[in-house]
Amino acid sequence: MEKLIGQNKYSVAVFISGTGSNLKNLIRFSLQKNSPIKIDLVLSNNSTAKGLLFAKKYRIKKMVLKFQKQSTDENNILIYLKKNNIKLICLAGFMKVLSSNFIKKFNGIILNIHPSLLPKYKGLNTHEKVIRNKEKFSGCTVHFVNSKLDSGKIILQKKVSINKQDTPKSLAKKVLKQEHILYPKALIKVLSNL
Ligand code: GRF
Repeated sequence: MEKLIGQNKYSVAVFISGTGSNLKNLIRFSLQKNSPIKIDLVLSNNSTAKGLLFAKKYRIKKMVLKFQKQSTDENNILIYLKKNNIKLICLAGFMKVLSSNFIKKFNGIILNIHPSLLPKYKGLNTHEKVIRNKEKFSGCTVHFVNSKLDSGKIILQKKVSINKQDTPKSLAKKVLKQEHILYPKALIKVLSNL
């Protein structure tokens, strides 16, 4: 963090598909005085993603690409990112799996937040599976993105405890609250180690 103070902020693109609470939280983090990041692009594969409203509210450039022809859309994203010198992508509830070609060609860092204690419960419907398996704990993970789903190197994790009354919905709420603390912390960790 120290290294970044007084220097240029890292230009970030956030990829979303839905509500965008992590996006909103990252925008707020980016607006803090000593934040190491600035968010220059919000990309969604879903034109009705609620999170796009945050891009509008905070006057951040937004892009909607439906990924019907994934390779074409990914190439256009790569061109845009390169042109705008964006070297960091934060996936935040982005429901498409980026191709290994995209990951290889992007000259920067891609991070993701996942609502489980990876390597447990990769993929979708995490909270349902966790509750069904009567786990005592769950949590969230920020990790580097590689070509295997939810499998890149772990940066930070936060554990939450589960009680008997918890449902997938109540667990999702608890975990999301921790996600909002974890993602900025993970960004600081990654960027101060560059
Ligand atoms: C979060 O739980 C995130 O971990 C998962 O999808 C959810 C997105 O929530 N990948 P939001 O759109 O940031 O509110």
